[in-house]
Amino acid sequence: MMKLTADELRTKYLKFFESKGHAIISGASLIPENDPTVLFTTAGMHPLVPYLLGEKHPAGTRLTDVQKCVRTGDIDAVGDSAHLTFFEMLGNWSLGDYFKKEAISWSYEFLTKELGFSPDQLNVTVFAGEDGIPRDDEAIAIWKSLGIPDERIFPLPKEDNWWGPAGTTGPCGPDSEMFIDTGKPACGPECRPGCHCGKYIEIWNDVFMQYNKTADGKYEPLKQHNVDTGMGVERTICMMNGYPTVYETELFAPIMAKIRELSTARPADEEQAVRAERIIADHMRTAVFLLGDPRQSVKPGNIGANYVLRRLIRRSVRYAKMLGIEPGYTAKIAEVVIAGYKHVYPELEQFRETVIGELTQEESRFEKTLAAGQKEFDKVATALKTHGQTQLSGRTAFKLYDTYGFPLEFTEELAKENGLDVDRAGYEAAFQKHQELSKQSAGTFKGGLQDHSVITTRLHTATHLLHKALKIVLGDHVAQKGSNITPERLRFDFSHPAKMTPEEVKRVEEIVNEQIQRDLPVTLETMSLEEARQAGATALFASKYGEQVKVYTMGDFSKEVCGGPHVTHTGELGGFKILKEESSSSGVRRIKAVISNMQ
Ligand code: ALA
Repeated sequence: MMKLTADELRTKYLKFFESKGHAIISGASLIPENDPTVLFTTAGMHPLVPYLLGEKHPAGTRLTDVQKCVRTGDIDAVGDSAHLTFFEMLGNWSLGDYFKKEAISWSYEFLTKELGFSPDQLNVTVFAGEDGIPRDDEAIAIWKSLGIPDERIFPLPKEDNWWGPAGTTGPCGPDSEMFIDTGKPACGPECRPGCHCGKYIEIWNDVFMQYNKTADGKYEPLKQHNVDTGMGVERTICMMNGYPTVYETELFAPIMAKIRELSTARPADEEQAVRAERIIADHMRTAVFLLGDPRQSVKPGNIGANYVLRRLIRRSVRYAKMLGIEPGYTAKIAEVVIAGYKHVYPELEQFRETVIGELTQEESRFEKTLAAGQKEFDKVATALKTHGQTQLSGRTAFKLYDTYGFPLEFTEELAKENGLDVDRAGYEAAFQKHQELSKQSAGTFKGGLQDHSVITTRLHTATHLLHKALKIVLGDHVAQKGSNITPERLRFDFSHPAKMTPEEVKRVEEIVNEQIQRDLPVTLETMSLEEARQAGATALFASKYGEQVKVYTMGDFSKEVCGGPHVTHTGELGGFKILKEESSSSGVRRIKAVISNMQ
């Protein structure tokens, strides 16, 4: 196998596609311009959407670039061998120019001739056909003509082999994904490309963008046949150099080394220690790129992209504590990230002061909260020890969480160091009780909430997603007329003149489920009703509210004036299903729905 650095890979890729008639263009900002459907640039195609829809690109119909991407959908999976929140994507595009034959043949040529992967290591997936769109026999025939045998071509359903749109609407289509077989033994008879055991690693995706998904969920054929491809830089060099994980590549090695240099403690559980190091490395790299973005529009905060950045930094700080890393470390790691990337992304050097300044400030803000929590912990631990007790109460663990931001695992670590254990069940109970109390205190606002439990909180959040999805699918005339929640289901009444069609019901479900899968952060702000209206919040029963109102924001998707309470992330709902759509009264429809996580 050929060894290659990331620098060499980027150059090789761009030159290869240049030799095939592509213009090399610059990658875009990490923060999408004029696209409210997503918080970050998640793929190379993102800045090219207008051109995929038919607008003329000044550089022509064949383009190639390197694009910085941030994906936070699986932030909780970070720490394994390949999931990252920031990554670089190499891409080549046909804007109504070439199609499947050239795209697949060039992918094959680049992988085998330029990168030196053996054709025997290559496994591909293709679209198996679904929803009236046929199996991609054309792609299968092309792969076969290149010598890939049937047993390494896997037709898979839409869930696996359909890409896009990047937000809720836009260009999309069937794809063909390329996986490298690492040679590890299969985890079982079902093991195939797409399996998460680590045998197959996806490094490239060719998307055949023939459709435009509209706001009402329809797939309209696009005027032109496009190709959109994406190759992951980190994963590809990891595979080429035979490393077990992306953290051994030269993109991460210096960051990991710095983290180890700064660590003064190591949890007994080695897996936990390694995971902590990886999370710090990943989150800090992403934070540096967000703060160093040329648009300079993201700062740690409580809403949208700002909130994601805050969450990344604070999560990193917590894991740094676990490794005994002293405060002030964010600046030191940022220096390493900037040094490793500034020759490719000069903006990081240009905005070095902002990056370091913001990181340091956010770290110290969070440090203060954590220090106060540590004091509280020490006080309790000393008292317990004096009385010969060995268990920290659930109530204390909850207070540390609620007031000082200590996650339970963190308190457990501290407890262990002090020869104590934590009453987990008591913590859960305190958590539950708190949820109930906050619901009761919000009682005057909640109009319809009858039960005080975690489930009803989730259903309440689902109601907001449903409300917005109905507006998208049926139109802006949809307004909430009433709501009632029990632990068994939610009921939502809204203005709409006709019975919903089965397709409309399905589409609404799909949109809500998409927002659940995106695991949007739910944030709360207090402002005047006037300010809320200006911020674009939907305000219901306005006359019931006083001057100051609470505004709940769910990522980039929904903003409503509401008393709450809500879950902190939409992912907690699991999934969403409409049970019934019926008439409530003249011009008012009623939906009953459930979520997957009803217990
Ligand atoms: N846009 C495609 C992807 O992200 C290439 O996989």
